[in-house]
Amino acid sequence: MRIEGAEELARRLARLTHLIRDAIVAAFQTGNASELLTGWRSVFAQTLLPELAENGKEAEFADMFAQTLAYGLFSARALTSVSTRFSPAEAAKLIPKTNPFLRDFFDLITGPKLDDEPFVGYVQDVVTLLDCADMGAILEDFGKGIGAGRRHDLVVHFYETFLSAYDPKLRELRGVYYTPESVVSYIVESIDWLLREKFGLKDGLADKTKIAVKLKEGAEVIEEESHRVLILDPATGTGTFLFEVVEQIRERFERKHQAGLWPAYVHDHLLPRLFGFELLMAPYAVAHFKLGLELSVRHLPELWRANWAYQFRPNERLNIYLTNTLEDIEKVAQQLGLLSIISREANEASTVKKHRPVLVVLGNPPYSNFGRQNRNDFILGLLDDYKRSLKEKKLNLDDDFIKFLRWAHDRIERPARVSSASSPTTSISTA
Ligand SMILES: C[S@@+](CC[C@H](N)C(=O)[O-])C[C@H]1O[C@@H](n2cnc3c(N)ncnc32)[C@H](O)[C@@H]1O
Repeated sequence: MRIEGAEELARRLARLTHLIRDAIVAAFQTGNASELLTGWRSVFAQTLLPELAENGKEAEFADMFAQTLAYGLFSARALTSVSTRFSPAEAAKLIPKTNPFLRDFFDLITGPKLDDEPFVGYVQDVVTLLDCADMGAILEDFGKGIGAGRRHDLVVHFYETFLSAYDPKLRELRGVYYTPESVVSYIVESIDWLLREKFGLKDGLADKTKIAVKLKEGAEVIEEESHRVLILDPATGTGTFLFEVVEQIRERFERKHQAGLWPAYVHDHLLPRLFGFELLMAPYAVAHFKLGLELSVRHLPELWRANWAYQFRPNERLNIYLTNTLEDIEKVAQQLGLLSIISREANEASTVKKHRPVLVVLGNPPYSNFGRQNRNDFILGLLDDYKRSLKEKKLNLDDDFIKFLRWAHDRIERPARVSSASSPTTSISTA
């Protein structure tokens, strides 16, 4: 069997993902869920989505797990060379370059621990399906639909096709909407302009200058050096905004024929300045793969790749974290044994929230009320500042996008509160 069309692959993958989801739901409903599954469920609930622990929410957990598994494997397949035979070991090898968390997740879900799970056969089917996929032809197929110059957004376009085959309603329910590329590039260009024209930073988003910041940790004050232009997308979804930032900066290097300077710049001045937070596993995995693909420049002609492909160094990661952005920044997630990879991720994100002097907050926040995870005392307390002496009747001031604006506002003020010497005092927030 050889699969050459993107639609066909998406349909088949969606069907197998359904089967994995159903097997997990059945395991919970019959009281046969393994320790591995119950462990994952409770750690997801404690760290990210509290309602997942409730009775009746088995399908939501199963869905999150099944989608991450299937889509993670697809994304890894998109990274392997067309001629390579595909296997879970191959997938796991590709992941650590951008993300230690996904690597651990894949080790857990594709290793021997999975052998006793009722859905292990379907996972094998996904691997076989991807092995039979002619990725060259499939990527070509997507290229036709996306239009010149945007072929590198394949992973996201495939995800949309996959989701509409998998469960069209879920897309709406979870607010899985991608920001159109034209809107994203306009916003990113505008921020670049603002940095250059209003902040006097001649290199705009590519700025690599540093400032001294003073961090207050309890009674102690620590002085640190930090890049001046730190960029954060707090609702990063599939990473569209960070992707565009990388794209626009790399194009500048390309125009100046500076391929030789690119790897050192990415390592020293680009990756350390980019941050993203996301609550859901599937878009989070997509964001990592998407930025990984972008930096590996798979969309450029073969001849160019040798010059522009960035090789991640050992232990180097993208600073895109699986976390609840609106969570109290003082909350420390418990280390939960084997599954401590999730709490580690949340705690690293919390350090960014607390200590990094972010200058640019950009992105497209959720416009719905996402559920209980976006209603905690921390963010509701901050929101009270906006409501004070306001008699607003028409606008729902508890809506998620206002919470994210309030959060960004707080985030931007934070460095001014904790640091003194030459710290940024004004910042840009775009949403
Ligand atoms: C409109 S989408 C962003 C789309 C993104 N710009 C893209 O093009 O993929 C909003 C994102 O916010 C995420 N989100 C919602 N509540 C969140 C929270 N409390 N913490 C972190 N992310 C959250 C959703 O999962 C969703 O991916």
